[in-house]
Amino acid sequence: MTKTRVLTGITTTGTPHIGNYVGAIRPAIEASKSESNKSYYFLADLHALIKNHNPKEVHTSSLEVAATWMAMGLDTDKSVFYRQSDIPEIPQLAWILSCITAKGLMNRAHAYKASVAENIEKKSKDPDKSITMGLFSYPVLMAADILMFNADIVPVGKDQIQHLEMARDIALRFNHIYEELFTLPKEQIDDNGAVLKGLDGRKMSKSYNNTIPLFAPEKKLRKFINKIKTNSLPPEAPKDYNDCTLFEIYSAFADENDINEIKLKYEKGIGWGEMKSILFDLLNNHLKKPREKYMYLLENPKIVEDTLQKGAERARKEAATFLKKIKKATGLKSL
Ligand code: TRP
Repeated sequence: MTKTRVLTGITTTGTPHIGNYVGAIRPAIEASKSESNKSYYFLADLHALIKNHNPKEVHTSSLEVAATWMAMGLDTDKSVFYRQSDIPEIPQLAWILSCITAKGLMNRAHAYKASVAENIEKKSKDPDKSITMGLFSYPVLMAADILMFNADIVPVGKDQIQHLEMARDIALRFNHIYEELFTLPKEQIDDNGAVLKGLDGRKMSKSYNNTIPLFAPEKKLRKFINKIKTNSLPPEAPKDYNDCTLFEIYSAFADENDINEIKLKYEKGIGWGEMKSILFDLLNNHLKKPREKYMYLLENPKIVEDTLQKGAERARKEAATFLKKIKKATGLKSL
């Protein structure tokens, strides 16, 4: 049986938060357990350089992201888990793809257009002010990530749909000009947890500074939960669990029976202090063991590095063989 190839990249900027876990990490780890899938998960550290020029932060984030996936139980023997910058075949493929990608296609990319719009709004003389070639050609590198392993399915957030369309466009163009080598990848949007709300009730996101770090130490976790915004109804007042951040986060971690019980408590009236303490207990029980493993891995980065090296070895084997074929199709071959 040919397996479905599932691939996704995680940009290594920042520390993973519970929104990342519920929206991306947990479903990816689940998918990797299915016998009908072969999964490729990687640290998109070349992409991180687009947004972050602080070497220390880029380096630390790679360790934190890798340790998170391992602590949460990714089976790194079963799936191919690697760091993008360990696979030199990827940027080589990105160049080949650049040479067949229309510049006009990149002009239409949302991230680039948003930066241009911001410059225009600020009345900059140059609409391309501070925009790097990295940002401009970001979708080509992402297409290379995906096409290098002929991924069938790419789990991503909604903001990445356009990048998947572009990857298909680029693949079609290569297949048309040269040889039918590339599979057309499909995005898989997970709507369930993707929109977990943060401390202030807006979408949990690094850019709003409203996140709950996945592995905050116990005391800090309690503090974060206490900071979650609620309305000012008194404890005995019946409450609406729809549109309540506390309930939403609770539901992302609890099983159905517990969720139903909490719904009843809301209807009868529950104090926010009590609900916060219930939520803390649930999260803390859930995260205690993985948090210990995470801390252990942060203190022993060699274990993480060795795991990534093993993954890179497997990924490179495939990438090198396929890149040879791709290059040959373009005329880059020995005489
Ligand atoms: N651009 C993606 C993001 O910001 C990360 C990423 C890089 C990625 N390369 C990828 C995702 C390849 C899926 C496939 O979320």
